[in-house]
Amino acid sequence: MQQDTITTFKTQFEEEVYTGLTAFPKHLSSKYFYDALGDKLFQDIMEMPEYYLTDAEFEIFETHQHEITDFFLAGDTPFNLIELGAGDGKKTKVLLRRLSEKTKHFTYQPIDISQHVLDGLSASLLQEFPKISVVQQQGTYFEALERINAGNKGRKVILFLGSNIGNLLHKQAIVFLSQVQALMQEGDLFFVGLDLKKNPQTILDAYNDPKGITAAFNKNVLARINRELGGTFELDNFLHWEVYDPETGTAKSYLVSNKEQTVTIDKLDLTINFRPWETIHTEISQKYDDATVNWLAEQSGLQVTKRYTDANKLYANYVFQKKQ
Ligand code: AVJ
Repeated sequence: MQQDTITTFKTQFEEEVYTGLTAFPKHLSSKYFYDALGDKLFQDIMEMPEYYLTDAEFEIFETHQHEITDFFLAGDTPFNLIELGAGDGKKTKVLLRRLSEKTKHFTYQPIDISQHVLDGLSASLLQEFPKISVVQQQGTYFEALERINAGNKGRKVILFLGSNIGNLLHKQAIVFLSQVQALMQEGDLFFVGLDLKKNPQTILDAYNDPKGITAAFNKNVLARINRELGGTFELDNFLHWEVYDPETGTAKSYLVSNKEQTVTIDKLDLTINFRPWETIHTEISQKYDDATVNWLAEQSGLQVTKRYTDANKLYANYVFQKKQ
C-alpha cells in the first residue's frame, strides 16, 4: 500500500498530505484549499446567494457601524486595529470609513500569510482611505501579534472575521483563543465573527451549491496535490459530500471516492488505494450558540462583553476581553 522507506519532507504541505492520506480514515487539512485558484473559488463562494455568512456579517457592520466604532474608540484613546487574516477587506472597510471620520488616532494593521493579499489590500486602502495609516504585517498570526506587541504597547482591537475560527475543533479553538488572550492587555478588544446554529437545511445549502463552486473548492486540495506534488487524482472520481450535525453544530466536508482506484503522488513516492466509497475528511465549519461561545471564552481566560447580530440571527460578532 505504501512505501517502506521514510521520505524527508521539504514542506509542511508534503508532510501533512503524506500523513493524512496514509491514515485511516483519510483526511486533509482545509488550510490547503487556499492557493491562487482556491482564493478565487472562495471569493466566488462569498458571492453565492446560499453562502449567507458574508452578507450577514456585512449587514451587522452596516447596521451597527456607529455603535461598533464608538466601542472601538473607547472615548478616543489611540489604538491599533489589527486584523487576523485580512483578505480583501470588504467588510472591514465599512468600519474603517466610520473610524476615519471619527478619529485620526489609530493605525490599521492587517496580518496575512500572503504578501500578495497584503499588497492588493494596501493598494486599495491607499486609494479609498489615503489618510489611514496602514502597517502591513506579513506572517502567521502569532508572529505578527508578537511583533506588534514588542514594538508598541498601545491599545489593541483585534479583528478575526468570517467565522474563520469555525475551521477549528473546540479544543483547537481554545488553544488559539488562549494564545491571543496571552497577547492581550486589559482594555484590548478581540472582535470575532461566528456563524450561528440555525435551520440545518440553510447550513447544508450554504455548503452544497447547485453550481458546484463549493465542490470545486473542496476538490482544489486534490488539484493542488496534482499541481504541486505530481499527484494523479482524477477529480471526477470523487464526490463533494457535506453533512451537518444539528446537535454538535459541526458541518463536515468530505471527498468520497466513487470507485475503487489507485492514485500516485510522485514527489512523495507514494501510492494510495481507495476502496469504493472511501472518504477523505477535508473541513469542519463549526456553528455556535451563546452558551458555547461563553464556554469557549471562559476556557480561554476571556469574557464576552458585547454581541451584535443580523436581523435574521444567522450570524454574530462577539467582543471578547481579558477576564478580570
Ligand atoms: C472561510 C472557513 C469560514 O467554513 O464557511 C466555505 C470556508 N468552506 N465553503 C467556511 C468554506 C466551504 C469557510 N471559512
